[in-house]
Amino acid sequence: MVTIHLNGKDYQVNENSDEPLMRQLTSQGAQIVGACGGAGICMTCAFKVIEGEFTEKTDTEEMMDLPENQRLACQCKPKTDGEIELIY
Ligand code: FES
Repeated sequence: MVTIHLNGKDYQVNENSDEPLMRQLTSQGAQIVGACGGAGICMTCAFKVIEGEFTEKTDTEEMMDLPENQRLACQCKPKTDGEIELIY
């Protein structure tokens, strides 16, 4: 398990789970908009990496042409403890 800091709270995330970061955070009460339900097309789950390492960008994220330090919570998982900031 790793710890992800978001909006003043710490969340425990299983880096070995098949569930993406978004699902693991929302199941613990985090408010993340996921308009497309995790399909990777709405970008409402985008976040800025403040600290920590995350899995490699998926093909879907590459197609979205996100800024270098931004990721989609529905597409990635953390590899280490970290801190993130939601864009929306
Ligand atoms: S929930 Fe739509 S891109 Fe992540």
